[in-house]
Amino acid sequence: MSEYKNVFVINHPLCSHNLRIIRDKNTNAEVFRSAIKRITYLLFYKATEDLELETVNIETPLEKCEVKQLKKEKEIIIAPILRAGLIFSDIANEIMPFATVRHIGMYRDEETLTPIWYYNKIPVEFDNPENKIVLILDPMLATGNSAIDAIKLFASKNVAQKNIKFVSLISAPEGLKKVQALYPDVKIITASIDNCLNEYGYIRPGLGDAGDRIFNTVEK
Ligand code: URA
Repeated sequence: MSEYKNVFVINHPLCSHNLRIIRDKNTNAEVFRSAIKRITYLLFYKATEDLELETVNIETPLEKCEVKQLKKEKEIIIAPILRAGLIFSDIANEIMPFATVRHIGMYRDEETLTPIWYYNKIPVEFDNPENKIVLILDPMLATGNSAIDAIKLFASKNVAQKNIKFVSLISAPEGLKKVQALYPDVKIITASIDNCLNEYGYIRPGLGDAGDRIFNTVEK
């Protein structure tokens, strides 16, 4: 547990090793993506550790036994924030093939640093919001503005904060404090809390623009 309430930093040697790879400006897009994917497994291990289980009876080839499975009535929603959040969704789908994927499209106004929505695949109303577990995915939690907008959307559909998680690779203290002040019960799972934001809202030392590095659109 870090100094922030409900912020969990994955302190694992494989995380540090792969963070080193993605922070390096000389890492190409192919290697960048594969290193993020390796970190993603570790992030999801933590982000899903409190999913609720139910007991069922089955028969192995040898005998009857009681086993655990994920509670049937719970719906897991994976919500990648486009475009960088897509890097997490393949692995999320792979380990939770039963999850629903609901994309959120936002880009950042470079002057005001506020998010501009352009796509929202979330239904107007949720049936049984008490049974939804939402994992919002965005590699960079910088100013916290997009995170807050995305969380606000699910909270407005009556999903409890404790059932909303935000998964990021790198977070800035400024953004974490802002999100936690508004949504103290939302769990944030991250691989690193970096030093600060620069004047353009980029995380320092960070890794630059995650979307550009993932999709190989960095201006040369
Ligand atoms: N988004 C990014 O891609 N990188 C940052 O450092 C901050 C926001």
